[in-house]
Amino acid sequence: MEQIDWKEQYSVGIEKIDHQHKQLFKIINKLIAMPPVSSEDSQIVSDILMEMIKYGREHFTTEEMFMQLYSYPEIELHKKEHDYFIKTTSELAADFMENEDKTADRIKNFLAVWLPEHILKTDMRYKPYFADKITTAAQSL
Ligand code: FEO
Repeated sequence: MEQIDWKEQYSVGIEKIDHQHKQLFKIINKLIAMPPVSSEDSQIVSDILMEMIKYGREHFTTEEMFMQLYSYPEIELHKKEHDYFIKTTSELAADFMENEDKTADRIKNFLAVWLPEHILKTDMRYKPYFADKITTAAQSL
């Protein structure tokens, strides 16, 4: 599977969020770079998945904070996608820990597809909404 590279087309125009998206790509790329999982490195995969869930939550909290602060009208729909991601990643992580060699590819496939699509389709919907509301100073909130 190919690494996912952050490109300008992923920019939502908010520096802090772009930075978080880049970090999430890095975490996913660590998983993609791993050879087929053997029992010796299943702990590494588990650690990466825990990092993914923790950092994913942190990122979603930041995004939802901006949405709340600026009364973004699509916040509830957007939050549902975030909740789905955390729920699915947690379930995949639990499956992996019980049955590692059968689910590692499913995890990579899910993460590498879901996040870029979510950014391009769902996060991009708030880009024009925030464009004239968030000043440079507010970007660091
Ligand atoms: Fe960047 Fe809605 O996650």
